[in-house]
Amino acid sequence: MSGRNVTVVGLQWGDEGKGKIVDALAGHMRYVVRFCGGANAGHTVLVGEEKFALHLIPCGVLRQGVCNIVGNGVAFDPATAWGELSALRDRGVTVTSENFRVSSAASVVMPWHKLQDTLSEASLAKGKKIGTTARGIGPCYSDKANRTTSIRAADLTNPEVLAEKIRSIVDIKNRTFSALYEAEPMDAEAIVAEYVQLGENLADMICNTGGLLRQAVADDVPILFEGGQGSMLDVDHGTYPFVTSSNVTACGVPSGAGIPPSEVGRVVGLIKAYSTRVGEGPFPTEQDNETGNAIREAGHEYGTTTGRPRRCGWFDAFAVKYAVDLSGADELALSLLDVLTDMGELKICTGYSTDGQAHEMFDPAAMSGVQCDYETLPGWDCDITGCKTFEELPAEAQNYVNRVEELLQTPVGFVSVGPERSQTIVHNSKTEGLDK
Ligand code: IMP
Repeated sequence: MSGRNVTVVGLQWGDEGKGKIVDALAGHMRYVVRFCGGANAGHTVLVGEEKFALHLIPCGVLRQGVCNIVGNGVAFDPATAWGELSALRDRGVTVTSENFRVSSAASVVMPWHKLQDTLSEASLAKGKKIGTTARGIGPCYSDKANRTTSIRAADLTNPEVLAEKIRSIVDIKNRTFSALYEAEPMDAEAIVAEYVQLGENLADMICNTGGLLRQAVADDVPILFEGGQGSMLDVDHGTYPFVTSSNVTACGVPSGAGIPPSEVGRVVGLIKAYSTRVGEGPFPTEQDNETGNAIREAGHEYGTTTGRPRRCGWFDAFAVKYAVDLSGADELALSLLDVLTDMGELKICTGYSTDGQAHEMFDPAAMSGVQCDYETLPGWDCDITGCKTFEELPAEAQNYVNRVEELLQTPVGFVSVGPERSQTIVHNSKTEGLDK
């Protein structure tokens, strides 16, 4: 196993605070690589007073000397990427082909994918909707698997090939959307004009990133793999069909980045101190009540990408242990502990039962209608946002973290008590190179 690489993945339903920890670890990395998802992600990093919400560009972009890669496993939206890149440049952040590269094998999100995402969701009955981010993610990955209706980033660098593909795919999509949704036809030439321009803007950043990364492996250069979403949203291992469309656990790194499995490195699993979920699907520890509202307001739990209010609930150790095992997490980073201040007694779910029968094994397909077995822990009411060491935390907060660690049988390496770089407590970590 590689000792220098690190993989950061979310162990819940996304929004665990991956941006902050990726930024903190990125200072010692040569590459930061996205391997799954697309612009459905929203990673927030606070640098001093400045807040950055990144969707497609990896969080290492805010560090000097880091090359940021969008891997082949990403659904790459060139319009969003160009908008994000331009906005970063406007704020004085350097983004060039020196520090930002896109895999030529990444599947491209096109306007018809976003349209289909919206039309398909609107056509589904309540209870069947997925509650997607409407970023065209599912339709883009469907076309990737379909092959003949997909555009890859390499095509963006060849205007003739791109124009020909757009014309033929728009013809198919127009006929399909008209028949299925009575949609107005798309104008192929307008799309050709826009995407040829985007291709020109981005051409020098599109390359064989898998080759670059395998060379980095040979040269013993450190790489950080930045996960998107969270394990319970994994297309194979999550709460299907209420999931995203890519492999978001550490298992997705080798294929989504183009490196051998042995190079995934140390796996840091991100957990927030409670649970949230955006979109539809089972969520046994959800608190659709005053407690959930209090968590939402204290944690500002509104989507970074869509602004939707997040569903909030207690920490689910039964589900997270499954995610720990799936990714082989070596250690955990626990975020947003400060949000639980002043919540009174705290609950942690340790298992599920159905009709009084305890579930022996966690199964994401058996989460609907379960009863949660809860443990109750004492809360704390003093401000913890200024705590610099684990020992400075009140005994109840230490006890909460220790119990999470015990239930998950995995050390908590980092505890985050606020959004700023300095508000990270290094606890039982063996991961090197955290910058504050
Ligand atoms: P999609 O990825 O837009 O297709 O959305 C599928 C499901 O994943 C929906 O429930 C979304 O709310 C959820 N989802 C996708 N990306 C994220 C994320 O980055 N954070 C949290 N939820 C996400």
